[in-house]
Amino acid sequence: MRIIVCKNYEELSEKAANIVASQLTLKPDSVIGRATGSTPLGMYSKLAEMNKSGEIDFSDVISFNLDEYYPIQKENSQSYDKFMKDNLFSKINIKPENTHIPNGEATDPIKECDEYERLIKENGGIDLQILGIGQNGHIGFNEPDASLSSRTHLTNLTENTIKANSRFFASSDEVPRQALTMGIATILKARKIILLANGANKSRVVSELLNDGINTSVPATLLKTHPDVILICDEDAYYGTRLGVDIGGTDIKFAVVDKKEVKFTDKIKTPENADGIVNAICDKINEIKDEYKIKNVGIGTPGEIKNGLIYASNLPFKGYPLEKAVSDKIDLFVTVDNDANCAALGEIIFGSTNDCDNLVLVTLGTGIGGGIIMNRQICHTKNNMGEIGHFIIKPENGRKCPCGQEGCWEQYCSSNALVKDVGEAAKQNKDSIIYKLMTEKGTLNGEIIFEALDMGCEVTKAVYKKYIFYLARGIESLANIFGPDCIVLAGGVTLQGDKLLAPLKAELKKDIRVEISTLQRNAGALGAAML
Ligand code: F6R
Repeated sequence: MRIIVCKNYEELSEKAANIVASQLTLKPDSVIGRATGSTPLGMYSKLAEMNKSGEIDFSDVISFNLDEYYPIQKENSQSYDKFMKDNLFSKINIKPENTHIPNGEATDPIKECDEYERLIKENGGIDLQILGIGQNGHIGFNEPDASLSSRTHLTNLTENTIKANSRFFASSDEVPRQALTMGIATILKARKIILLANGANKSRVVSELLNDGINTSVPATLLKTHPDVILICDEDAYYGTRLGVDIGGTDIKFAVVDKKEVKFTDKIKTPENADGIVNAICDKINEIKDEYKIKNVGIGTPGEIKNGLIYASNLPFKGYPLEKAVSDKIDLFVTVDNDANCAALGEIIFGSTNDCDNLVLVTLGTGIGGGIIMNRQICHTKNNMGEIGHFIIKPENGRKCPCGQEGCWEQYCSSNALVKDVGEAAKQNKDSIIYKLMTEKGTLNGEIIFEALDMGCEVTKAVYKKYIFYLARGIESLANIFGPDCIVLAGGVTLQGDKLLAPLKAELKKDIRVEISTLQRNAGALGAAML
């Protein structure tokens, strides 16, 4: 299933209309399957405009609607027959004899269904099927059930659908209790399918569709068996309200994101054992899930994830099934990913780089971590992708790295490497400014290093120049490998802003967009929310 997330309903309607238009350009006598309901209205009005301006022609098009209430008179203001005439057929040059809708007035509904199925077949089958999705996951009127009828049939509507559709009737008592609908197999026989979903009230079902396995209690999941389905949804339907959790060695951070707006943030101390971490996360979720109507939880954790098990050196996760442990305790969708990947996702969605499609995040901290985003998706492999701190920047006489290699980038460019190098240089130059500052303060950290630079310390300047040299070479290499729209730097040393960025840009021999993270430590929880 391909997914297109549109900014709003307007964009969704335009994209869907363009797909129908290209179908008609390629095959002017296409057989189009149509849905009613509020979702396709915008697309129908765009198609009417395109037809009026001569861009598309419906004169050879054959149309089959998905469904109709049963029983219902055609002239009833809520019949799908009337809906289609009012909203599309009266506005385009389609021949009335080419428009087919199951007959809600039929005296023998079973015969009507068989005839409808035969007619679709006789016309060569559906080329492009347009679908909406019910809040309960129905497509057409194929309601959630233990087993689903495959062909056009008479069906009972569920309470949920009656309630949802009562908005079109004077009261829910007036909503017909039955309908004639194409079956799942009728729909799946279409050569191409577009499924439209908009609005926050569809976010739960969209996440069920995307996260659940194929099952008849969410009939739309059966679309996953079709080779050519495009889900076109707006951001409200796609994102919904999500909770992001960022597990760190010291704190666990939480962020509730509604669409892309941050509604709530919080932080707790990280418990010492794995079960304690899971309990603390679940307690927080239970505390806030009803208030914020949370549907999805994303968790970012340090370490490697293999077959659902987490291996983290600085957390009590040694082959720990985090996703399962949290999902078992709460009735929400839970997704777990590496924390640097989450931070990279956070940057591309919420950061100053939200205009990019491709991005590499480099965190200069104790080591160097990274997340790679291509086409706005986290890049994953089964083999621990994104260990950018461990590419070799100095192959000969390189510094030893705990990973077993020599000359890893993080041995030269992590914040820790900078502090270590400056410390060693200071000890060899006891008359230097940095040595004086270091002994006065009894410690050495990034702030003291930049203070020394501000005071014109030549020893610190020389070390920093080398640091910037290796940083630039690493960034150029990343740019060569991934061709990102931007490289975002985060972590300790980047809090110095222009004192890092200006010399770095001067040293770069390639024209690369490099920015310092505007989100810094919040990127992880925000990105986790959007997993
Ligand atoms: C309509 C149909 C239904 C709707 C679905 C969504 O022909 O078959 O499956 O597509 O109920 O309805 P709206 O778009 O009103 O949310």
